[in-house]
Amino acid sequence: MVSVHHNAMIVTGLLLASLAASEPQSEGIPFGKPTRERYFQFQPGFLNFNHGGFGATPRLVRQAQSGFVDQQEAQPTAWFASGGYQKILSEVRPRLAEMMNANSSDVVFLDDASSGLNAVLRSLPWQPQDVMLLTSAAYAVLPNTGKWLQKRYGIQIVQAEVHFPAKSAEAILEPVERALLKLPQPCKLRLAVFDHVSSYPPAILPVARLARIVKARCAETLVLLDGAHALGQVPIDMKQLAEAGVDAYVTDGHKWLMAPKGSGALWASRSIQDILEPAIISSDNAPTTKFQDRFDYIGTRDYTSWCAMGAALDFREMLGAAGGNMCFKQVLKAGHLVTTLNLVGVANHFVSNLAEST
Ligand SMILES: Cc1ncc(COP(=O)(O)O)c(C=O)c1O
Repeated sequence: MVSVHHNAMIVTGLLLASLAASEPQSEGIPFGKPTRERYFQFQPGFLNFNHGGFGATPRLVRQAQSGFVDQQEAQPTAWFASGGYQKILSEVRPRLAEMMNANSSDVVFLDDASSGLNAVLRSLPWQPQDVMLLTSAAYAVLPNTGKWLQKRYGIQIVQAEVHFPAKSAEAILEPVERALLKLPQPCKLRLAVFDHVSSYPPAILPVARLARIVKARCAETLVLLDGAHALGQVPIDMKQLAEAGVDAYVTDGHKWLMAPKGSGALWASRSIQDILEPAIISSDNAPTTKFQDRFDYIGTRDYTSWCAMGAALDFREMLGAAGGNMCFKQVLKAGHLVTTLNLVGVANHFVSNLAEST
């Protein structure tokens, strides 16, 4: 299964790279091979078609991170224990929150999406027979952690089968609605988790509507969104999502924001902040520790990836909106070609085109 997805991803990647090579750039920095070489550290001749898996950090962001490592090593105690890295985070956090249309006080830093999903799932006061709902598109962290919760607390996992390609939002909403209707009342559904942008296959889910139907059926259920692929790729509007009933939102920094590996963010509604513990409970984490302080120190480790999220935001600003719009247009074009033409023929065509243009 995975290789089929990877093949599709590679073909789409080839199409995108080829289109990028031929697309004129009207404003911002130029795209294509010169930009790739100037701003990224890929081995010559290597084309990265799996950006979603592990991201790729631009040189400028890595340089900024390296500057933070220098500060850390110049005065380790000042960096860790006298507000060194925390001061940088206090500058980065509002910018990150702005990108998520969230209040800065509701956002904490994470090492990655997995640690955020674990933090939420493992913090909830599960009772035997409680239900966790997810979809068949959920990333493996969720069913895996769910199985651990099942073993530990005797919870039940209900999986709504969603099928792709989904021609409309209803194709995702209906299986979830059916699963909700089958739940016994009074509702024991403690948590429903949905991808904002799924991994295999990549699709944007109608998350606000999903949150609404969950809350309409079980008002007390918490809704968690896995936005690992969202930050930097699609708009995140926490005000709108919170209004729809979303209680927590996890995202990665290293994927589409192009921040260093080891960066991510969690937004949580005020009503659940008190119960959330980070995946690691540190020496600074007494039970009364405030939400952000609880997540800001999780032991002696390299926090420079979090600090360098500011440089990743700068890099995006430098790219400008034109870059995003151009990539979006190319994705649409590539998707159209993949769905309307003979895939193998198209791939061959673009591979030979690509060889000429790179
Ligand atoms: C949808 C989704 N959620 C969560 C994750 C986990 O991300 P990470 O490995 O950065 O924690 C991934 C990884 O690709 C993913 O695709």
